[in-house]
Amino acid sequence: NNNDIRTINHLRHVDSMATMPSGAGKIPRLNAVILGEALATEENDLVFPTDEFSQQAHVPSPQKYLEMYKRSIEDPAGFWSEIASQFYWKQKWDDSVYSENLDVSKGRVNIEWFKGGITNICYNCLDKNVEAGLGDKIALYWEGNDTGFDDSLTYSQLLHKVCQLANYLKDMGVQKGDAVVIYLPMLLELPITMLACARIGAVHSVVFAGFSAESLSQRIIDCKPKVVITCNAVKRGPKIIHLKDIVDAALVESAKTGVPIDTCLVYENQLAMKRDITKWQDGRDIWWQDVIPKYPTECAVEWVDAEDPLFLLYTSGSTGKPKGVLHTTGGYMVYTATTFKYAFDYKPSDVYWCTADCGWITGHSYVTYGPLLNGASCIVFEGAPNYPDSGRCWDIVDKYKVTIFYTAPTLVRSLMRDGDEYVTRYSRKSLRILGSVGEPINPSAWRWFYNVVGDSRCPISDTWWQTETGGFMITPLPGAWPQKPGSATFPFFGVKPVIVDEKGVEIEGECSGYLCVKGSWPGAFRTLYGDHERYETTYFKPFTGYYFTGDGCSRDKDGYHWLTGRVDDVINVSGHRIGTAEVESALVSHPKCAEAAVVGIEHEVKGQAIYAFVTLVEGEPYSEELRKSLILSVRKQIGAFAAPERIHWAPGLPKTRSGKIMRRILRKIASGQLDELGDTSTLADPNVVEQLISLSNC
Ligand code: PRX
Repeated sequence: NNNDIRTINHLRHVDSMATMPSGAGKIPRLNAVILGEALATEENDLVFPTDEFSQQAHVPSPQKYLEMYKRSIEDPAGFWSEIASQFYWKQKWDDSVYSENLDVSKGRVNIEWFKGGITNICYNCLDKNVEAGLGDKIALYWEGNDTGFDDSLTYSQLLHKVCQLANYLKDMGVQKGDAVVIYLPMLLELPITMLACARIGAVHSVVFAGFSAESLSQRIIDCKPKVVITCNAVKRGPKIIHLKDIVDAALVESAKTGVPIDTCLVYENQLAMKRDITKWQDGRDIWWQDVIPKYPTECAVEWVDAEDPLFLLYTSGSTGKPKGVLHTTGGYMVYTATTFKYAFDYKPSDVYWCTADCGWITGHSYVTYGPLLNGASCIVFEGAPNYPDSGRCWDIVDKYKVTIFYTAPTLVRSLMRDGDEYVTRYSRKSLRILGSVGEPINPSAWRWFYNVVGDSRCPISDTWWQTETGGFMITPLPGAWPQKPGSATFPFFGVKPVIVDEKGVEIEGECSGYLCVKGSWPGAFRTLYGDHERYETTYFKPFTGYYFTGDGCSRDKDGYHWLTGRVDDVINVSGHRIGTAEVESALVSHPKCAEAAVVGIEHEVKGQAIYAFVTLVEGEPYSEELRKSLILSVRKQIGAFAAPERIHWAPGLPKTRSGKIMRRILRKIASGQLDELGDTSTLADPNVVEQLISLSNC
């Protein structure tokens, strides 16, 4: 049939290619699924882009991808210089383009891209686009929590607002290299603030406005900002959250620890709460609306080196306190813009919506920087995707004629559960590409997203990446490859993913193992703020010579990559990364908790959920009240999103004779796989396991 013929044409030309360029492992061998054997059959579970789509795509075929990929690996300096030249640089970078050492045995880990190049990312996002004639194009649409409330800013308007805030920050003494902490919800003021910092060379550190006062203060204490920027309150669904109160509490804490904050700029979010009931500290707190509009709408750019820091973003690791992931300017700029363009096949007529919050890396790279660098029109959505009902996303898609919709599997699964009618009642005709991020997307959710939301005509870009990587690492290019539901497919240009075994030996062909990356790419993070040693230990020491991602991955016979989740003690709840150590320390700080061990369990909607084993102090009885108060302790210390799904009372924890908690056993107990507990004879006290099982239903 026609479909088969198209398949043959689409793939015939890659038949002869046998190996990926040197160093990148074997080529995605499509031969098996191409000529002679089964074509686009159910058996192979391949989903092809339509001819119409491929023909208009930036990368229309596997062959084109391979050509570009090969060049990016064989000549990274040439490949990335050509792309970087399309940005504005006050001064060109050094001849070497990049330098790197990822091998701890050869000295300090060091990554630099475009060093010596002088630029400014805010200038490239705004001024450059205005000069190119996009001044009247909408840069940001804002859709409020409650339907009927919206706003928008053109590129010129956004530039003016950014300049006003930048002038204010300069007036407050913020200089190049100073940190600014931002604790804002998804108002236009959030990207405005990020861009204003970038304009004057200040380093922004956005803290997701769902984090608790303690988490916020921890971050403030670590990076010692000159200014903290927030708003009085926000509406999320039907609830009003008093953000300023949280900031007040955080600032009391930080002052106690020797980090007093002199300036707290507060945006009055009138739709949530009027200013008169906001608690206020005169001399420190300033209403945004009282000062910012008075500043000039022009502000000279602070030109910075490509390797000057752009932002800090704290993320959870498997041990200890959150890590301040540091990204620099030039490489991040080039990388986020390029990945956005290719993975979403961006065209100037697109209207793009990413549902992520700017408090996470996805909102940094693919709400603010990537889209604006491309001159795109992008939606900033304040609300909850199922408020006032589960059709809200498609209502927004129709309202703005969204063409590219990028979200997380957890949302897909939750909407899928609510039923198709919420989707099919809207047209969604404008959609042409869908995207997924944050955790593996299970094939059934993928198919629902593809068939129901995308009417079986929109390719899905399942983008695998991390806070640390700055931008997409393994992702479909939607016009190029046939897709396999649940696979992130192939590496982006310049990325050399490798799968290694426990000893760090690369495994070729069809295999499973630990996902590492060989060599650097422009968007890579450069260090952990104030702790380069932890940077090396966490990411570069586990497998010498490689960047270790913390993820497991398998590669199938056709070279497609399948991410299998974290292999360290990090839990991914609704795409939010949470360290078991952080939750454990929040639980243990409860006066009645003696010890805690936290594991992840599978969850139908959230992907993973937090399951906590808690040992109480001697003589303390189990009670429902205590269970709630333990959960509250985690909400207070980290944030509501980290609340354990389940507390399992534990008279003792399974430990080795050397005192190490055996989480493998706890995971099995938590998921009810009691016949797979494995060898428990090495435990210091094997009876513990029986006790835990007997308390499973308490
Ligand atoms: O486990 C992977 C998972 O999310 C982790 C990174 O989390 P974070 O730094 O918070 O960034 C999230 C947004 C980029 C990864 O180590 N992850 C992210 N995207 C995917 C994914 N797992 C599978 N498929 C993905 N597309």
